[in-house]
Amino acid sequence: MSNTGCFRSFRSPGFRDTLRVMSTRKRYAVVGVGGRSKMYVKALASTHREHGELVALCDPNSVRLEYANEQLSEEFGANPVATYSPRDFETMISRERVDTVIVTSIDRTHHDYIVRAMDAGCDAISEKPMTVDAEKCSAINDAIRRTGKNLTVTFNYRYAPRNSRVKEVLLSGAIGEIKSVHFEWLLDTSHGADYFRRWHRDKRNSGGLMVHKATHHFDLVNWWINSTPKSVFAVGDLVFYGKENAEKRGLTEFYDRSTGNSIARRDPFALHMDSKEKLRRTYLEAEHEDGYRRDQSVFSDGISIEDDMSVLVRYNSGASMTYHLTAYSPWEGFRIAFNGTKGRLEYNVTEVSYISTSDSDIHGEQAIDKKGHPADIPAELVLHRHWQEPEYIPFEQTDESGHGGGDTRLLNDLFIGGERDPLGRAADHVAGTDSILTGIAANIAMAEKRPVDVNELRNRVQG
Ligand SMILES: NC(=O)c1ccc[n+]([C@@H]2O[C@H](COP(=O)([O-])OP(=O)(O)OC[C@H]3O[C@@H](n4cnc5c(N)ncnc54)[C@H](O)[C@@H]3O)[C@@H](O)[C@H]2O)c1
Repeated sequence: MSNTGCFRSFRSPGFRDTLRVMSTRKRYAVVGVGGRSKMYVKALASTHREHGELVALCDPNSVRLEYANEQLSEEFGANPVATYSPRDFETMISRERVDTVIVTSIDRTHHDYIVRAMDAGCDAISEKPMTVDAEKCSAINDAIRRTGKNLTVTFNYRYAPRNSRVKEVLLSGAIGEIKSVHFEWLLDTSHGADYFRRWHRDKRNSGGLMVHKATHHFDLVNWWINSTPKSVFAVGDLVFYGKENAEKRGLTEFYDRSTGNSIARRDPFALHMDSKEKLRRTYLEAEHEDGYRRDQSVFSDGISIEDDMSVLVRYNSGASMTYHLTAYSPWEGFRIAFNGTKGRLEYNVTEVSYISTSDSDIHGEQAIDKKGHPADIPAELVLHRHWQEPEYIPFEQTDESGHGGGDTRLLNDLFIGGERDPLGRAADHVAGTDSILTGIAANIAMAEKRPVDVNELRNRVQG
């Protein structure tokens, strides 16, 4: 091409537009490069390359960082980026001119990175749960007040088309004023068990499943019924996992972790990392640095979270909810019913169970081969109006992986955004706070055997 030709193409409107888009792309850093980070890293390296630029990765584990960078180039086709340890977090932000930090580290560390990112001039995007307890929640709300920065909490479930459809039906007033909700969530012995193998099993890390997992469910209810929790009572126990429970059921062979253990070969609950490349490289080959053992026996000692929880919630709208979470179910999914002044909406979903970071999956998750409980039982949304025949409500069916298709739509909203959403699916620190308050209050209720005033707790954490 001649110089003149080259000059001309440089000045063409199309090229100028591309340059403008590229130069206004936000610069992102990801902190915590385990399983969940891959969804964001892959999106910024491929589908959303034009909308945002990944400029740095941060994690205390250098082996995991190196592997994340290798995946970035070899799997996702992008150039490796700068890597930093958490002690150099602020240096990373200034040197790499980061606009937004994406927080995908373990739950108990979220507040630290959100606050530090904001103090250094960045916005933050945080994986759920926003954080794990009231003190850390206060620190986040203080930082937002002090800095005026924005926090987005990535509630992917809101974006699953069928969950959005529930919101539309409730918004339409089809069942009138919502008076009560009955909600049961089941985690199976593959996905549910996974929380008992690794860091989540210590309540200080995750807030237990009441916070770590149920933040999704409590957020959905807050959003669906357009209200916030007012008071909470809860009971919960470890009834299935853990050594003591297994002993009571007659188990006599115990082990500490799967790797290198012959008993584990006979345990259907065991996770075998050596045969799965991503698990092996992300965790097994990195564990000498931080002692993170991904494959602990679910029937070993040292578990401080519950696997069976019942919660009773009163909402500020006057509605009430009975909620139950079971983490040792033979199948995975949920059932919810809303009772209103004009009728009742029933919604049943069978979910595809997965183990985070298994091989061959696009979002760092892999569907597990289900035995006896096929994952393709269709979801069902049924509207019962007083005095009328039941109506089966149609909704967009998708076989996309990643939380019922929620992940893809969430990423579009995060990295492109800009469109008015009548369903208000984007969640900020206020929704993030309300979603964890039910779980935090439930943890207090379980420990102190008393109902908890959530409005009082909310005033405390919002300052
Ligand atoms: N929205 C969803 O559906 C969904 C799904 C999976 C995970 N998550 C969330 O993503 C987050 C990560 O979960 P995961 O499954 O990827 O866990 P993981 O164990 O695979 O990865 C956690 C990462 O955090 C890093 N880490 C540990 N201590 C740290 C510290 N002090 N500072 C910075 N990084 C630290 C670890 O080295 C590891 O790389 C969690 O908050 C989890 O709740 C959300």
